Amino acid sequence: MLKLENFDIKLNTDFIGRNFIYFEEIDSTNTYLLDKSNDIDISGTVVLAEFQNKGRGRLDRTWTSDTGQNLTFSILFVKNQSLFQNLNFLNFAAALAVASSIDNLYQLKTELKWPNDILISKKKTCGILIETVTSKGIIERVVVGIGINVNQNHFKGEYNYPPTSIRIELGKEVERERLLAEVLNNFEHYINKLKSDKNQIINDWKMKCKMIGEKISIRQKDEIKFGIFDDIDENGFLLLKTKTGIEKITAGDLIVQ
Ligand code: BTN
Repeated sequence: MLKLENFDIKLNTDFIGRNFIYFEEIDSTNTYLLDKSNDIDISGTVVLAEFQNKGRGRLDRTWTSDTGQNLTFSILFVKNQSLFQNLNFLNFAAALAVASSIDNLYQLKTELKWPNDILISKKKTCGILIETVTSKGIIERVVVGIGINVNQNHFKGEYNYPPTSIRIELGKEVERERLLAEVLNNFEHYINKLKSDKNQIINDWKMKCKMIGEKISIRQKDEIKFGIFDDIDENGFLLLKTKTGIEKITAGDLIVQ
């Protein structure tokens, strides 16, 4: 069980995590915050669950995480049209927040994988799922769901990418409360940075992505595209160099060849 007082004392934000909702079990923290009938309308609200029985990942996958071992939580943003203009930036800000927290607290070397995975030793330790509620074509709410493999020691079942946890990489258990506070502190820092310097977020993200220049494939719904990971454009999309030229990729699964 999360010790809320240990988390609270380390939280240094103005709005993210100031409204905090804790569940022992829920279907999915993303689903909960997306549902307007739950009457949560405060930007920065964090919902964390010790266990999700219908945890969701990108591209309709499931996200599984052992009870009480990891961090599975979501953050709500409402009425912030400038932030909602390009969700790639929010995605990058969240990924950078998690990566820098892991680097700083445990001196581990994280790497970012487009669009939003955090790897340690080429294995996945965190995934991010951003979802929206729109009305008449306007985004009303955005939910940033983050799943970090923290203290889980074994991963059973099938994964689309080999998983790992901070504990496995570090060789010892870590305090989830401290990590959670650090991620939220850093996330707010990066969101503030977005207001003044969007390019910096892209540059910071690129610095931590070691796959640029590599031969990759992008798996999309019905097809696989092959090429060289040329760059990330100014809006956060992947530029794939193919035989026919540079193609902008807006979604998909990246695989290094
Ligand atoms: C992915 O890599 O596919 C994204 C995984 C996102 C998982 C998190 S866990 C908290 C939040 N609630 C969910 O149901 N999913 C996200």
